[in-house]
Amino acid sequence: KQEKGNLILCHCPFQVTQGTNQIVMNCADIDIITASFVPEGGEEINATGFNYQNEDEKVTLCFPSILQKGSGSLKIDFVGELNDKMKGFYRSKYTTPSGENRYAAVTQFEATDARRAFPCWDEPAIKATFDITLIIPKDRIALSNMNVVDRKPYPEDHSLVEVKFATTPIMSTYLVAFVIGEYDFVESQSSDGVTVRVYTPVGKAEQGKFALEVATKTLPFYKDYFSVPYPLPKIDLIAIADFAAGAMENWGLVTYRETALLIDPKNSCASSRQWVALVVGHELAHQWFGNLVTMEWWTHLWLNEGFASWIEYLCVDHCFPEYDIWTQFVSADYTRALDLDALDNSHPIEVDVGHPSEVDEIFDAISYSKGASVIRMLHNYIGDEDFRKGMNAYLLKFQHKNASTEDLWECLEQASGKPIAAVMNSWTKQMGFPIIVVDQEQHGSDRVLKISQKKFCASGPRNGTYENCPNWMVPISICTSEDPSCTKMKVLLDQPETTVNITNIAPDHWIKINPGTVGFYRIQYSTTMLESLLPGIRDLTLLPVDRLGLQNDLFSLARAGMISTVEVLKVMEAFVNEPNYTVWSDLSCNLGVLSSLLSHTDFHEDIQEFIRDLFTPIGMKLGWDSKTGEGHLDALLRGLVLGKLGKAGHKATLEEARRRFKEHVEGKQTLPADLRSPVYLTVLKHGDSTTLDTMLKLHKQADMQEEKNRIERVLGAIPAPDLIQRVLNFALSEEVRPQDTVSVIGGVAGSSKQGRKAAWKFVKDNWEELHNRYQGGFLISRLIKLTADGFAIDKMAAEVKSFFESHHAPAAERTVQQCCENILLNAAWLKRDAEDIHQYLLQRKAPPV
Ligand code: BES
Ligand code: ZN
Repeated sequence: KQEKGNLILCHCPFQVTQGTNQIVMNCADIDIITASFVPEGGEEINATGFNYQNEDEKVTLCFPSILQKGSGSLKIDFVGELNDKMKGFYRSKYTTPSGENRYAAVTQFEATDARRAFPCWDEPAIKATFDITLIIPKDRIALSNMNVVDRKPYPEDHSLVEVKFATTPIMSTYLVAFVIGEYDFVESQSSDGVTVRVYTPVGKAEQGKFALEVATKTLPFYKDYFSVPYPLPKIDLIAIADFAAGAMENWGLVTYRETALLIDPKNSCASSRQWVALVVGHELAHQWFGNLVTMEWWTHLWLNEGFASWIEYLCVDHCFPEYDIWTQFVSADYTRALDLDALDNSHPIEVDVGHPSEVDEIFDAISYSKGASVIRMLHNYIGDEDFRKGMNAYLLKFQHKNASTEDLWECLEQASGKPIAAVMNSWTKQMGFPIIVVDQEQHGSDRVLKISQKKFCASGPRNGTYENCPNWMVPISICTSEDPSCTKMKVLLDQPETTVNITNIAPDHWIKINPGTVGFYRIQYSTTMLESLLPGIRDLTLLPVDRLGLQNDLFSLARAGMISTVEVLKVMEAFVNEPNYTVWSDLSCNLGVLSSLLSHTDFHEDIQEFIRDLFTPIGMKLGWDSKTGEGHLDALLRGLVLGKLGKAGHKATLEEARRRFKEHVEGKQTLPADLRSPVYLTVLKHGDSTTLDTMLKLHKQADMQEEKNRIERVLGAIPAPDLIQRVLNFALSEEVRPQDTVSVIGGVAGSSKQGRKAAWKFVKDNWEELHNRYQGGFLISRLIKLTADGFAIDKMAAEVKSFFESHHAPAAERTVQQCCENILLNAAWLKRDAEDIHQYLLQRKAPPV
């Protein structure tokens, strides 16, 4: 299956700084045929031995004599492998419009896989310029980081052409890229003169237009924000059929999964549009933050990923203000980061890494989502103007070089005059975050707040002495009911506790900490403070983002055993009048967690009823058909609510979903894209083998990867055990792209008690194939998390642990520990609260006496 590549010659200008007879380079799955060193103006010296250190992914070239100090060039002939592992230089399968299977050859080098394509010094701080020439079949397109400077027939074989690209700026190896295949494209020019192209599969150029628009708007936005222009003459964005990550920021040639780039005006849903905008915004930000200024070492990966994951929202907010994207940030990134970082098996943002598997491991929610969240907090603490000033100084000072976390702090400190390093070190060098405990007393027209911090642990408060209790420098802002959107007071909490005096506040006015939900911490209010805030949920006087944050804090406090889950259920019921999509989305997510937990009990149906009751009024209000004047968020909300109602077995929703599904399948009335996921989910959840057959047929017929993914993600909802097994087998079949197998299996695990067991067994039974397929990359971590996280019995933690003791997954070690911890937390939660929850659910149905 794997093809050996042709002979490749690498020619590398080189400085010998100290006489030596050995050169050590990175190299993996490559056979070197000859290597030689040619000193400037001297005789070529052939290497006589190549010692491969496979474990370290290195090779030592041994020379018969000392290479003297001075410059020269290193020449290497080698044979590489065009692999099937979605890393290094690999092949990606696609189907031509006439149905023929073909292969493209593409690259994915981050983090440490350039060494699979050519021997090199594969570290971010070893920058070089690259002159790339590709010899390719003449009917194919070749792309690389830079523009083509020459394309001519290849003398030795007339079916080939030689394509030469312009020299790159000085750059890191992980950002080098090339693609050879058949593609169409759409093109435009950004207002600052950069040629932007979006490459799509043949015949689908139209689907590139949305991303093209976003990209052409985004480039000038970043140029203006950073006050530094994009330095290359062109940028290409290309959709790759087989692609492990979501997208990759190769300088000048950004690669994407098809679903992160292609939008069809009729068949794409609102959430896909939003996803494409975010991913484009993210990868283009890297062109500055990552490509122009690169992290010194992978320890500072978070600088790249955390920053890009923050500014992608700024960019989308600029391009699509109607998305209300910052509220969605809180639900998508901020709360996810808090959940992960509350575990004992979390890690600091800045973490020592050495071996490639350790590097792979940190592409996680700490680097991305916590990184983005602490940058958001910092931006808020500094203010936009000084923040931009500092960013600009940083980019100018380190452009074409490398930088560390400290370097950024220094620039921001100079720009703002604030103690940035001291504040930020407490967030990036130690893991976890604080819970802020608040109590109040009214003194005349003053309110005195007692504020303290301690580490928040997912398992609840720990008894410990102050010495081993970490502290954070916490920027705290405070608002009151007089103006919930305006910060009344700011303090920097730099010790375990403090008191704050708020003047001129009426006794019946409430006080809210952390307006905007910007600070990276959770809050525990005293009972009276909390009670005074709750009406703000019902009457919507609290901001949406704060209604969301308050609910989310309470939910996680309940999971940690600090309050009762029943209290949270009562708070959730106060959301019946909620109009905001993102608030519903977060609530829905937490109810999903609770529903999954209670699937371990015999009163699972009672929580379904609770969900139906909560979502029915908003479902009624929205109806099935979009109304004129509705926008992006209405489309998202309708899909969310109908899916939730359908899944929970709301009768009218189920009937209508079946009716519409039938018309869709019969070709009478195509379902609008935004209704497809909820309808598919609903009919499958209450479906049989005929439903599954129909869905698999729709999957086969689907022309867009988006539609295939949509179906793949919900197949696991099918209830019958034999059908669940069919879905699992389908996940590993040729029908599913290798990168999407994970979400099919994850869909099974997340759908039901039976699914959870079946998916875990399937992963164990097919471990070798799955592990091989992903070669330890981050997809294996995602798979483990999706299939192991949901259990709630102590002995499953032991089973998961012991399975991975005998089946090693080096890049997923921490994920395994996190899963085991989560299982134990679930088990404790269930033991603690199940009975009370059950009683509450029964009692709320009972007729009033
Ligand atoms: N640099 C990453 C791609 C990457 C991820 C390379 C993991 C190697 C390992 C890229 O910038 C990225 O972060 N992509 C995200 C999408 C983004 C919108 C969060 C991804 O792939 O999920
Ligand atoms: Zn990124």
